[in-house]
Amino acid sequence: MLELGPGNGEVALALATKNPDDFHVLIDMNIHAADEIGRQIAKRNLKNVGVVTGVAHAELSRLDDRVEFDVVHCYFPSPLNNIAMPAPRLYDQITCREILRLTQTGSEFFTVSDKAFVIDRFEKRLAPAFRLGTWRPPISPLMEGAVIGTQNERIHCIARDVTPSVARLVRT
Ligand SMILES: C[S@@+](CC[C@H](N)C(=O)[O-])C[C@H]1O[C@@H](n2cnc3c(N)ncnc32)[C@H](O)[C@@H]1O
Repeated sequence: MLELGPGNGEVALALATKNPDDFHVLIDMNIHAADEIGRQIAKRNLKNVGVVTGVAHAELSRLDDRVEFDVVHCYFPSPLNNIAMPAPRLYDQITCREILRLTQTGSEFFTVSDKAFVIDRFEKRLAPAFRLGTWRPPISPLMEGAVIGTQNERIHCIARDVTPSVARLVRT
């Protein structure tokens, strides 16, 4: 499993705890976010999570073609360029190209955003390899019960108020 821009890692840490046999790779360019996730990994003694500090497309480009992610998560990707830390956005072509390279038939992509255009960009850029599986408010079955605390509330809250809000893309 891959998560791009995990922030405080709440979603991935919950999923990693719930699914100990799956390996989770997290990439965030914010060193403070990555440090905090590292502390949480140690505190929870998780052996199935690896966190990388860096810009997503650059870090992904280091992985060779044999690496395949079954599931990619990307929640609330920053819609605008960050002036303090400029980098391609997670829904930009350069990142989506790496997602395409590192996934295969049956791979899934989950995203949540309060900005419909963000989801539209992902959809457009991951096509034609991925088809739109479902718009599935409030949250996907994968997330159901796995996500806790504020993140869960945010997802529910935003999914209720914004359409489309949660996208599940399946690679065909
Ligand atoms: C708005 S926050 C969302 C955090 C978390 N997913 C959530 O839902 O609370 C966006 C995160 O993506 C990271 N980010 C943005 N662009 C990135 C890029 N190109 N590569 C890696 N991380 C990126 C930011 O550092 C930040 O932690």
